Amino acid sequence: MALILGIESSCDETAAAVVRDGEQQLSSVVASQLAHQQYGGVVPEIAAREHLRAIAPVVRKALADANVKAEDVDAIAVTQGPGLAGALLVGISYAKAMAFALDEPLIAVNHLEGHIHAVLLEQRQAGNHQVDFPVLSLVISGGHTHLYLCEQHGNAWTYELIGRTRDDAAGEAFDKVAKLLALGYPGGPVIDKLSKFGDAKAVKFAPVQIKGHPRKVSKRYAQAGNPVPQGESHDFSYSGMKTAVLRYVETNGMREAIEKRRAELAKIQPTIDDFRRITDQHTIDLVASFQRAMVEDVVAKTMAAARETSTATLLVTGGVAANSELRSCFDQAAAEEGVRVFFPSLKLSTDNAAMIAAAAYPKFLAQEFADAEMSAEAGLALR
Ligand code: KG4
Ligand code: ZN
Repeated sequence: MALILGIESSCDETAAAVVRDGEQQLSSVVASQLAHQQYGGVVPEIAAREHLRAIAPVVRKALADANVKAEDVDAIAVTQGPGLAGALLVGISYAKAMAFALDEPLIAVNHLEGHIHAVLLEQRQAGNHQVDFPVLSLVISGGHTHLYLCEQHGNAWTYELIGRTRDDAAGEAFDKVAKLLALGYPGGPVIDKLSKFGDAKAVKFAPVQIKGHPRKVSKRYAQAGNPVPQGESHDFSYSGMKTAVLRYVETNGMREAIEKRRAELAKIQPTIDDFRRITDQHTIDLVASFQRAMVEDVVAKTMAAARETSTATLLVTGGVAANSELRSCFDQAAAEEGVRVFFPSLKLSTDNAAMIAAAAYPKFLAQEFADAEMSAEAGLALR
């Protein structure tokens, strides 16, 4: 039996969790930083400082909730990247100090691998240990819209990137549109909830057009005897969608209403009911249409990749995977294609540390430990 303490601090959530054998969450504590809300986005310097304040109590609470002592832990896992360098360093320094003090191994985890293992963790926790390959994972969050073909060799997992955003990540587009329309930060949850009251056909968005790139696969992937996909890569692009919203706002004279809402919001800590009350129907229809266009594009591109790679299991994970319309649209499309699709629970869709501890478990079994030199890698790639 292995107890792994996971620590996550890559962006604006300070998180710690204790997971047994990569499949039983004993605790999961997430402290979200509210200090960024007034800026409409994450401020790196503030994030690092907030992590410094939160990390010790968050780790202490994760151990207490799991009813374990620090000495009972068998390894400390921490996010190495990708993320904000200053933010990552807080978690890494803390994890290193703990591993040194307890004389336990340190495991470096890629944040994106964590998101993928959030789904696997909960499936195992529910007793579902069998994953049918090929497995395709869509990691869709504030920083990423990445499609990975996943392979498992013994305990170890490897990942082949077959599509990614050329510009804005999907969550970034949600956040920027929310900022533009004065709907707070983060934008995804508010747009999701408001969209239920809007007409998604009210505003037409042109389909996302991107020039194809010929597909490249890694040598490792090709040499493993995998069928090398032909044709173009399965890339995404969402900055155009955000610009289309901006243009709509300008041509429909919506500025004044937006600034009025912004001023009202500044006076309160708004709930979703407040957003509904102070948002006009025209804006609600616009966000519903925006969300519909985003969801349709994400699902169509992902299912095209699933078809081409004969995907048996699709994992959709990351903050935007919490979106209710995205989930129902994927459920329907996957059922039609005969693909099994899995999402994390809402709690494990956004950043957390249970996913980091779960992703660390195969590395624990393989004794793939980090040394004292390990440091933050803001642009760490997943392979
Ligand atoms: O995975 P995450 O917590 O952090 C990153 O690794 O980026 O994802 C945060 C992103 C934000 O952009 C947020 O707006 C988006 O996930 N998000 C949503 C929803 N909940 C969170 N986007 C759409 N619909 C949601 N319900
Ligand atoms: Zn994330």
